[in-house]
Amino acid sequence: MKTLAIAEFQKAIKQSTHEDHRKLKRVSDKMRINVTQPALPPLTEFVKYLEKIWESKWLTNQGPFHQQFEQELADYLGVKHVSLFANGTLALVTALQVLRITGEVITTPYSFVATTHALHWNNIKPVFADIDPVFCNLEPEKIEAAITPKTTAILPVHVYGNPCDVEKIQEIADMYGLKVIYDAAHAFGVKKNGTSILDWGDLSILSFHGTKVFTTMEGGAIISHDENIRKRIGYLKNFGFAGETTVVQPGINAKMNEMQAALGLLQLKEIDKNISNRREIALHYRQGLKDIPGIRLIDDVKGVRHNYPYLPIFVNESEYGRSRDELYDVLKQNHIHGRRYFYPLISHFPIYRGFDSARPSNLPAAEKIASRVICLPIYPYLNVEHVLETVDIIRGFVD
Ligand SMILES: Cc1ncc(COP(=O)(O)O)c(C=O)c1O
Repeated sequence: MKTLAIAEFQKAIKQSTHEDHRKLKRVSDKMRINVTQPALPPLTEFVKYLEKIWESKWLTNQGPFHQQFEQELADYLGVKHVSLFANGTLALVTALQVLRITGEVITTPYSFVATTHALHWNNIKPVFADIDPVFCNLEPEKIEAAITPKTTAILPVHVYGNPCDVEKIQEIADMYGLKVIYDAAHAFGVKKNGTSILDWGDLSILSFHGTKVFTTMEGGAIISHDENIRKRIGYLKNFGFAGETTVVQPGINAKMNEMQAALGLLQLKEIDKNISNRREIALHYRQGLKDIPGIRLIDDVKGVRHNYPYLPIFVNESEYGRSRDELYDVLKQNHIHGRRYFYPLISHFPIYRGFDSARPSNLPAAEKIASRVICLPIYPYLNVEHVLETVDIIRGFVD
């Protein structure tokens, strides 16, 4: 067990000379397994792009790499229009602006805070609806029940990259005349029945943050299906400029720069391999963790091309015999740093907890899931030995 190895390291570090200490420290630092780690291209490849940027002196504002990346990304994703952004949060804020969403928007409490913050920054009231307890996405029936005369849109999240019930959500939106903006921050490359999940809704946003399946360090995009909307997104992310002297709306500066775009171009070359490595890792976890009472995983869905951004497990304390937090802590003590995505629920944060829809009794499934989840480490070059070790710890903790 690695617990012993760590104890040995600690003892050795205490007894070591200064130089030894530094070496040992480096080894023990390496042993920390984080929930994620980016797969980066060879630095020499990136430097070639940097040299071109230095030559052209074109750093931002729709530079050549930006233009190339936008096109190659649209081709890879199989979508009509991609508008690149400095990060996913600004893409979300802008998506709401471009459709002029106001009033109330129905959304999920089970997400990263940026989803709801984007509403707050637009002066829109979030209305939380409950999730389905299997895939952790908004439950369509709960969306419908939350509609009021002030509702203008639905903001669902494809949590962990698992597609929402897009058909049902569209049916509800069509029936009540609502817009749909998908927070697809986790859903890079996900397809359903051969077509991109990003084709659904009025708009979808992506995040290319360092923790994501596809990263440009910071970055994001809006996926749109209409040329006029694409144009207006372009104005809004560039201060509202529609021409040299025309400003059409109070836009923001949300432009992706040339270095981010260059990294994106390089990442595109590796993305399929990275996703298939992630899949391998997920299969090892599933194999190792199956049949442990009280530990549930999310299965793949037939017809979906998954991207494996997270490896959530759900701990049922009474069946497993230990609480989620006890397991989380013991993993950490064994240098496995999972994360409790998404705990606490967004509806628990002081800014939002006063809303009527934030009441725990309104969100029983989300409350339960948030109290059970741990996302285990998963990334393309995670050593399988660390997966097996994690499985051993989870199994051994209740043996
Ligand atoms: C579901 C979700 N929405 C939005 C964001 C915000 O994206 P960014 O960090 O690129 O601003 C993230 C992650 O960071 C996320 O996980």
